[in-house]
Amino acid sequence: MSQDELKKQAAEEALKYIVEDEVVGVGTGSTVNFFIDALAAKKHLIAGAVSSSEASTERLKSHGIPVFELNAIDRLPVYIDGADESNHLLELIKGGGAALTREKIVAAVAEKFVCIADDSKLVKKLGKFPLPVEVIPMARSHVARELVKLGGDPVYREGVTTDNGNIILDVHNLDILQPIALEQKINQIVGVVTNGLFAARGADVLLLASKEGVKTLNA
Ligand code: A5P
Repeated sequence: MSQDELKKQAAEEALKYIVEDEVVGVGTGSTVNFFIDALAAKKHLIAGAVSSSEASTERLKSHGIPVFELNAIDRLPVYIDGADESNHLLELIKGGGAALTREKIVAAVAEKFVCIADDSKLVKKLGKFPLPVEVIPMARSHVARELVKLGGDPVYREGVTTDNGNIILDVHNLDILQPIALEQKINQIVGVVTNGLFAARGADVLLLASKEGVKTLNA
């Protein structure tokens, strides 16, 4: 079974978590794209979606799914999104698609965060995947120097501007022993908008697809 088939299985399993007549939060990435395509068949059941990126908004709209501004809704029972890595506590690294800030905002509002992934994403320790950090452009060198002090090797993601007009530094070789503490520390660097550690608010449920089927892990 291909990785795409596994992503699709996890995405389809997530349909069980949508709440009728409510708005669903939708993340970004190739796994979420399978979710959006599967959601199209159920669109009559939901009020609409809030989206974490321009790319997902476009895909949702192409299926005729109404997209709401986050500020326009009263509640968000569930948020469905992928991840670049998850540990067994469902602490995540996200931002491979550069949508981490809006993803973190939507995840913060959601009552339940359901993460969808194939089993290659489950790791014992976070950090093999370089940690994306969204940075205000003029602070790039300052933030890079501070990240080096934390033991990381930041690499500027060439040619990428986020939906918020910022840049991404991908930080290699971090020793992520305490994800929540590191998430907070990096957020305190002046010029950092967000970092891709989703640990203080990790996922509540991980739907992990392998060739044996989709496993449900709870935080
Ligand atoms: C987008 O910025 C990311 O956080 C994605 O959720 C993450 O990169 C997973 O993407 P895939 O589903 O494409 O692996």
